[in-house]
Amino acid sequence: MIHTRPQALESANWRNLKAKINYMQKAYLFLFSIVLTIFIASNANAEPYAGGDSAAGKALVDKNCIQCHADRFGGNGSAIYTRENRLVKTSRGLLAQIRNCNTMLGIKWFEDEELNVASYLNKTYYHFEK
Ligand code: HEC
Repeated sequence: MIHTRPQALESANWRNLKAKINYMQKAYLFLFSIVLTIFIASNANAEPYAGGDSAAGKALVDKNCIQCHADRFGGNGSAIYTRENRLVKTSRGLLAQIRNCNTMLGIKWFEDEELNVASYLNKTYYHFEK
């Protein structure tokens, strides 16, 4: 005679449910840790140029600035920002230097473009925090 065992069925369902709950808990924990990491990372990279778009800044620097720096200082042109006696000492100084270059070279960047460039150079080379 064949016994159906409702208890066994029930406990299989129950196990299934527990596995689902377990999975969801892990998924939430995972998401939570990502959010936390982003939060911490964004705080650690405190940025003096709020709203500056460093990707856009990189494109501007690649196009307008690198060649001359590389010609004079060799390599890929970045040595000028990392040399021992670099001119720029503060985040305000960096923005001022970028403004000077902008004016002298007649590139006619707008203020937000100067900010993008400052953000890029700071994130990549200078690392000023305020
Ligand atoms: C025609 C050549 C030339 C071009 C084009 C040029 N630079 Fe420069 N830049 C220099 C030279 C030379 C120095 C170093 C000046 C010194 O040491 O007195 C310098 C220095 C700098 C510094 C200071 C580095 C430090 O010591 O901390 C920054 C920042 C800078 N340039 C940004 C830019 C940006 C942004 C552009 C693009 C708009 C640009 N430069 C375009 C020649 C150039």
